[in-house]
Amino acid sequence: MYPTSLLPPLFPTLVPLEPFLDESALQQEFRDLPSVPVLWQVQSIDSTNRCLLEWAPQGLPQHFCLVARQQSAGRGRRGRAWISDAEGSLTFSLWWIFDRSLQELSGLPLAVSLGMVEALHSLGMTSVGVKWPNDLWREGRKVAGVLVETTRLSSGQVGAVIGIGLNVALPSSLQDTCVLSLNDLRDEAGQAPARATVLGRLLNTLIPLLESFAQSGFAPFAETWMTHCVHRNQQVTLLHPNHTRSQGECVGLSSLGGLILRDPAGEPHTYHGGELSLRLEAP
Ligand code: BTN
Repeated sequence: MYPTSLLPPLFPTLVPLEPFLDESALQQEFRDLPSVPVLWQVQSIDSTNRCLLEWAPQGLPQHFCLVARQQSAGRGRRGRAWISDAEGSLTFSLWWIFDRSLQELSGLPLAVSLGMVEALHSLGMTSVGVKWPNDLWREGRKVAGVLVETTRLSSGQVGAVIGIGLNVALPSSLQDTCVLSLNDLRDEAGQAPARATVLGRLLNTLIPLLESFAQSGFAPFAETWMTHCVHRNQQVTLLHPNHTRSQGECVGLSSLGGLILRDPAGEPHTYHGGELSLRLEAP
């Protein structure tokens, strides 16, 4: 799982590979995949997304995955920091090369959030849903986020760093320090699945899903995404970066992953962009 031949040119020696996840649980999850992803584990790094973007020009293998026990400068959407816990979070980035335009990749974070929900449902966590554009929610609070960052390769293809932060079992001290209301994967008895099992199941689900996205784009996923949408058929407000608002009933997705809101006159309006933020309208 750790091809040392890749190590010297790619990996700064100050960041040693130190597995912290149970290898056998990971292997168990990868048994049905046609090829096992190259997965590197580190104890601590600034940001797995930043690292992969830095290494990308040197040629990362397709499906390369970097998972960190701790991030010192985790990046979130809209310029925010991503706060995580060394024992209770999963923070990783997956590298994928696409023969698609940047516009066609706008649905990629949504496809990823759908794959994550399907993986978590298969582990019994059926109360997790998707929130447009790329969050996972459970019982009205955020459980996970996806940050996709892209880079144009010399081949003309687009390299995507798919960064995923997931709260598996967060300490309450960390929940209290966050502005956002957070949730995690623990059940009523306070038990959460092992992080190795969760990561393995996520990759096991995401890799075939991303193969399909690379072939056919987002359109085939739009309907299924809506079945998991926590705001489906509800009145919502979209906050734009310039502080204006759009309101309507959340009724569907476009073929590129844009959100379709129906206004009071019954007219549909489609909104695109990772800079938008969605709120449930106060009753
Ligand atoms: C969000 O704001 O909702 C997206 C959060 C994405 C966080 C993950 S953690 C692993 C990867 N590395 C980063 O620096 N960010 C992403």
